[in-house]
Amino acid sequence: MAESLRILVVHGPNLNLLGTREPEVYGSTTLEEINVELTAEAKESGADVEFFQSNHEGALIDRIQEAGSWADGVLINPAGLTHSSVSLRDALVATGLPVVEVHLSNVFAREEFRRHSLVSDVAIGVLSGFGASSYRLGLHALLDHLER
Ligand code: DQA
Repeated sequence: MAESLRILVVHGPNLNLLGTREPEVYGSTTLEEINVELTAEAKESGADVEFFQSNHEGALIDRIQEAGSWADGVLINPAGLTHSSVSLRDALVATGLPVVEVHLSNVFAREEFRRHSLVSDVAIGVLSGFGASSYRLGLHALLDHLER
């Protein structure tokens, strides 16, 4: 039997607050609930997921660097760092892994500064605006890409 695909799911700053953080923008689903759903979806597809959330840019970068040695792909919601972090982008590129970028909110329908992402052009694709489903859709897009 072929080995399972291994995906690192990265949640950026403030996403630990999901459920109570601006629910009118980000919904009421908690991060834990998102992770539980992704675990089930991955299992059904025969894949393994690992999760990492941090409010610290360096910690996120360390984890992404390390994923280069074991993961097959990265699903990431870079949160606010989407719009500001050259270093996070560089870490993603350095892994050489396929990356799917996700956002709960539709970043194109919000403030001007959210329309620019430093990650999108190094990702294979972006899911934005589908709430917690952005993650589920993003996971399937990444697995589909890896299986082809
Ligand atoms: C976000 C959108 C970002 O602009 C914002 O800074 C976040 C969350 C989203 O999932 O919609 O923290 O990535």
